[in-house]
Amino acid sequence: MLFSPYPKTKREELFDRDRELKEFEEAIGRGERLILLLGLRRLGKSSLLNVALNDLPNPSIKIDVRQTYSEFSSASRYVIGKKLLSAMSGRRKIMEEAKAFLERVRGISVSGLKVEISSREFSITELLEALNEYGEKAGRVVIAFDEAQYLRFGGATRYDGILAYAVDNLENLTFVLTGSEVGLLFDFLKFNDPEAPLFGRYHHDIILERFSPELSEEFLRRGFEEAGVKAREREIEEAVGELDGIVGWLALYGYIRTTRKLGHREAIDEVMREAKSVVGSELSKLFSYSPRYRLILKGIALGHSRWKDIRDYLVLKTGYINDSNFSSLLENLVKSGYVEKKEGRYSISDPVLARVFREL
Ligand SMILES: Nc1ncnc2c1ncn2[C@@H]1O[C@H](COP(=O)(O)OP(=O)(O)OP(=O)(O)O)[C@@H](O)[C@H]1O
Ligand SMILES: [Mg+2]
Repeated sequence: MLFSPYPKTKREELFDRDRELKEFEEAIGRGERLILLLGLRRLGKSSLLNVALNDLPNPSIKIDVRQTYSEFSSASRYVIGKKLLSAMSGRRKIMEEAKAFLERVRGISVSGLKVEISSREFSITELLEALNEYGEKAGRVVIAFDEAQYLRFGGATRYDGILAYAVDNLENLTFVLTGSEVGLLFDFLKFNDPEAPLFGRYHHDIILERFSPELSEEFLRRGFEEAGVKAREREIEEAVGELDGIVGWLALYGYIRTTRKLGHREAIDEVMREAKSVVGSELSKLFSYSPRYRLILKGIALGHSRWKDIRDYLVLKTGYINDSNFSSLLENLVKSGYVEKKEGRYSISDPVLARVFREL
């Protein structure tokens, strides 16, 4: 269903994105080793990744690093290793074919279709080497880390170093990293830092943009048609005007309207309510580091767009803050994707969130 509110897994549920799927498939076909799938929240990165991996003839392993980090408060090698292995466990084809290679890795045990970490000797690098050997036989193995910026919480495990080693030496592996907090992801990968392990490494970036207004309207029309619900053209235009081309909000609006039998206005209000609670949970951590983040977001959402105006707004609300502290708070919001900086002006990238932030 086009309006289903979960990440899509099947080609027929994915609206548009043909160009991105083709680009992904061709990059894998060329044997590229590092692919980044970038885009704001709710633009469909996980959906695109799921569909792309399902369509590939190659074996693939995917883990959600954000979910893993929130479950374990860590991205240590044991945690990531455990997730990688459980992503393989139970999958007959992959387990039968990879078994012989996995059995040689120290610190893991294979029994039947199950593979798990069995001792502290476990090393991610050895696991990747085994998967590379498997890839030599089975064809390139694709390893995907959804929301890879959370790999920065690896503690003693330095994933940038591990990735650099793998990209340089393990020719039968392709890594796919997605990230909605694009600035944080690049901070972690440090492609431009001569001291960093991934310095200068080639990466193929696929950037997900929001849908154009026409495409957004088409998405809603098709979704309503599929659900057998009538929606007026004016309502469709209005919904796109308010929710923008952010497919996650559009799908949620459509889902609420078609499943809860709500009218147009009620459905928009419901999306706003939902957005408020999403923001609450997404940003609670950030707000606990500094309550100033909340006010900066509010100030920008209210229309303050220059560095100085935003700082003045903050100072008015909370008192003096020195320039470099303020800059670093603002910069963090840009890195996390909530705030956009264009030609020296700051704005909230998602109009739905802008409405929520105005009321913070
Ligand atoms: N191309 C698409 N066609 C139809 N629905 C889509 C498409 N892309 C995403 N969606 C829907 O939008 C919502 C958000 O998608 P998804 O979770 O894939 O986005 P994301 O970019 O991974 O978001 P996040 O940054 O929150 O992880 C889901 O409900 C999904 O079903
Ligand atoms: Mg996602």
